[in-house]
Amino acid sequence: MESLLSALQEKAQADLAAIRTRPELEAAKARLVGPNGELTALMKQMGSVPKEQRPALGKRINEAKALVQALLDAALQRVVDGEIAAQVGPAIDVSLPSPDAGPGTFHPLTQVREEMCRILRKVGFTVADGPEVETEYYCFDALNTPADHPARDAQDTFYLPRDAAFANVSKHRADERYLLRTHTSSVQIRTLLKGPPPIRIVSPGRVYRRDTTDATHSANFHQLECLYVDRNVTVRDLKALLDYIFTSLLGKDTKTRFRPHYFGYTEPSFEVDLSARHLPKVNKEWIEIGGCGMVDPIVLDGVGHDSRVWSGYAFGMGLERLAMLLYGIDDIRYFYQNDLRFLRQFA
Ligand code: DAH
Repeated sequence: MESLLSALQEKAQADLAAIRTRPELEAAKARLVGPNGELTALMKQMGSVPKEQRPALGKRINEAKALVQALLDAALQRVVDGEIAAQVGPAIDVSLPSPDAGPGTFHPLTQVREEMCRILRKVGFTVADGPEVETEYYCFDALNTPADHPARDAQDTFYLPRDAAFANVSKHRADERYLLRTHTSSVQIRTLLKGPPPIRIVSPGRVYRRDTTDATHSANFHQLECLYVDRNVTVRDLKALLDYIFTSLLGKDTKTRFRPHYFGYTEPSFEVDLSARHLPKVNKEWIEIGGCGMVDPIVLDGVGHDSRVWSGYAFGMGLERLAMLLYGIDDIRYFYQNDLRFLRQFA
C-alpha cells in the first residue's frame, strides 16, 4: 500500500506540473480524486486492511490526499495566471512613443482662409461661394475684360470642350464656353446679379491657370476675393480695410501700399504691396500680395446697378502667397504634396 501511495504521489507531481489548461486540469482531477480516481480507489481498499494497521494507513492516506490537493490547487493557480496573462498580452513599455495617430489638424491654407474670413466677418462681410467651372461671361465679359485680352487666351485659361454640360453652372448666353475660373472675381458678378446693394462679401476658393509648376507657380491655387458695394464708397475705405485685415493677420507692424495698375473691372486700379519685415524669411521691404480698385462703373451698370447711385471696391489676393509669408514657406509645392512632416508643423 505504502509503495502504491508513493508511486501515485510521484506520478501526480509530474503530471500536474505539466498542466496548462482547464480541460487538462479537470481530467487530471478526475483521474486522481474523482469517484473512479486512483486515490479514491486506494482509499476504498482501507476496508480490507487488518484493523491494527488502519490508523497508520489512514494517516498516510490523509497525507497523500493533502499533498494531491495542494498540487491541484497550485496547478489551478498556474492555469488562472496563464489565462490572465493571455488576456493582458505582452508587457507594455510605457517609455515607447504612442502608436496612436495624433489628433488631426487643418491644412495651413485652410487655417489662413478661415482666419481671413473670421477677420472679415468681424467688419460685416459674409462668405459667398461660386463655381470653379465658370463661363466666359462671369469670368471675363461681365468684368469688362475684352475678348482679345491675353488672360482669355487658351494659353492661360483651361477651356472645356464646347459640348461639355454642367447643369449646376448657369450660362449667361447659350453659346458661351465653359472654363475653369482663372480668378475668384467671377463671384463678384454672380453676387451682383443676385440682388441690389449694399453688398459685402468675401469669397475664398480654388482657381486654375495654365502655369508651369515651380516654386512660386501652380496650375491650381487659391484666391480670396472681397467686394463691397454701397453708397459713397471711396479709396480710403478700401485702404482702411486692407490695413485692417493685414495688421490683423500678420501683426500690427504690417504696412500696405498701393501701386497704380490696370484691371478691366476696377477704376482706378492698384496692386497691393505688403511690408512685414517682422515675419520669418522676409528679406525684402515690399511684397506684392494682390490687386484691387474701385469697381468700374461699366461693371455696375452691366449687372443693372446704377453707377450714379452705387460705388464700391474690390480686391483679390493669393492665399498661398499669404500663407507662405505668414509661415515662412519658400516653395508653393509643399502645400499640395501631403507630406506629413510639412503638415505637422501647423498642428
Ligand atoms: N483677379 C485679379 C487676379 O487674379 C485680382 C484682382 C484685382 C481682384 C483687382 C480684384 C480686383 O477684385 O479689383 O490677379
